[in-house]
Amino acid sequence: MLGSDLVKFDIRGDERGSLVAVEGGNDVPFDIARVYYVFGTVEGVSRGFHAHRNLRQVAIAVQGSCTMLLDDGHDRRSVHLDDPSVGLHIGPMTWREMHDFTPDCVLLVLANQPYDESDYIRVYEEFTAAIETLAR
Ligand code: TYD
Repeated sequence: MLGSDLVKFDIRGDERGSLVAVEGGNDVPFDIARVYYVFGTVEGVSRGFHAHRNLRQVAIAVQGSCTMLLDDGHDRRSVHLDDPSVGLHIGPMTWREMHDFTPDCVLLVLANQPYDESDYIRVYEEFTAAIETLAR
């Protein structure tokens, strides 16, 4: 699907446990400008419901699980995130919704730009209209 890929990270495990290191420009395909994490999500709550015009992000369920629904304006798919060694790369102009958070879920997100509300498209009809405009 356009605009999203799974990225596998090496687990550096030893007798003490496990460690994953993520380097910008190496393990993820951009320099990391921002890190945020979603946790303590109330049962039954879904989040997201937006696309970004330019932002690239990689989302990792470092604890627990959730489901990321992705929509490129033509196709939809759901990706279950439940592995701290797997990241989901989400490119620009991809509508995303996050569902089915487990109570323990910690969703870590790496982004290539600082927070910028003007980069968001929060209305689905505006997103599909922008996709049509880009296709012309
Ligand atoms: P929002 O992006 O709407 O969350 P979600 O898409 O997961 O539902 O962000 C929720 C609030 O947090 C909103 O007021 C904006 C703020 N926020 C920041 O200030 N910086 C950030 O990096 C992010 C992601 C959100």
